[in-house]
Amino acid sequence: MKTLSFKVPYTLIGPGTAGNIGDIVKDLGATKALIVTDTGVVQAGLLEKIKPSLDKLGCKYDVFDAVEPNAPTRVIEECIKRAAAGGYDLLIGVGGGSTMDTTKVTSLAAPNGLKVQDLLPPAKPIKKTILKILVPTTAGTGSEWSNLVTVTDETDGLKKLLHFNQLWSDATIIDPEMTLNLPQNVTAETGMDVLAHSIEGYVSAESGGLGDMFCETAIKLAANNIRLAYGKGSKHMEARYNMAVAAAVAMKGGEINGTGLGHFIDSFVVSKFHISHGAALTILMPHVMEFNLVAVPDRYAKVAEFMGEQVSGLSVTEAAKKAVAAWRKLSQDMGMKVTLSEAGMKESDIPPLVDDLFRLKQRVIDTYNPRHANKADVAKILKAAL
Ligand SMILES: [Fe+2]
Repeated sequence: MKTLSFKVPYTLIGPGTAGNIGDIVKDLGATKALIVTDTGVVQAGLLEKIKPSLDKLGCKYDVFDAVEPNAPTRVIEECIKRAAAGGYDLLIGVGGGSTMDTTKVTSLAAPNGLKVQDLLPPAKPIKKTILKILVPTTAGTGSEWSNLVTVTDETDGLKKLLHFNQLWSDATIIDPEMTLNLPQNVTAETGMDVLAHSIEGYVSAESGGLGDMFCETAIKLAANNIRLAYGKGSKHMEARYNMAVAAAVAMKGGEINGTGLGHFIDSFVVSKFHISHGAALTILMPHVMEFNLVAVPDRYAKVAEFMGEQVSGLSVTEAAKKAVAAWRKLSQDMGMKVTLSEAGMKESDIPPLVDDLFRLKQRVIDTYNPRHANKADVAKILKAAL
């Protein structure tokens, strides 16, 4: 039995809960907030759901709306400067994974006079933090329930993972109303990320026990609700609610059990090509699943069952293959890209990508992926996904 370290931040869940943010701010004792967000969130009017509650409390606030996808270090540095100069005692991250990650890094760096590079291993000591509330507006990364952050290090173009206990939010608000009008492609891509966290967690070499519980729940919630959320999400509060909960729960499962090759390869694809995390995962996952299937067919058979596939009467291997087919059907139903060539990748891009991957991720691949994988295996997966 493995030893687990486990935490879920204080969380308010439900339609309209973003409008109660003032109650949380009051409990935290904060008086001046910097809202960290992006222009899309501002234009969608989502800040108007939280501003009245802050105004009513008398909490002052400013807005930093320059967050960019994949949390590039340049933009995080801007946010850190703004937060350090403004005398804020609270950061409120309103947005998707990049926004929440930018908020989390800023909360550590700004009060200690640090830059993002200072937080990469071996990191400088963190003495204090700014309080932070996270309000996700997509149902995807689950960063709201995690003490992990992914940033794009612009010195080498690679995605880097930060992991500190001080990265936990002081409060999280999961309000499905914030996701009602998400564009269809974002709903699809972030939703597939939720499924990828939970499936990779469920089949991980470190799977079992509590982590499985989160993964199973998240697979069922996401697989049963993603099409409704995609189809006309603005009219399906229940589907949006279930996807929002699934995102947080899937992160918890992926965090406890670890993810696998899908996520490890994905971060290098996203670093080099113009494609989102979820879109790249959508392409990679069926090939990774086919590769891994031989090592844990019973696990994939359960995944197929959780995704609603009929598996009675089938052999374990046949049932396991249904999980791969279910993934492909989902991506086809939502009109998603199915090859990496569509994202501009060429066969000549594979060797350097595989070299970078194994230079930086060999240990986690060996620890978490359910099947042993070497460079040739990953090159084959990428070639199949081209
Ligand atoms: Fe992910």
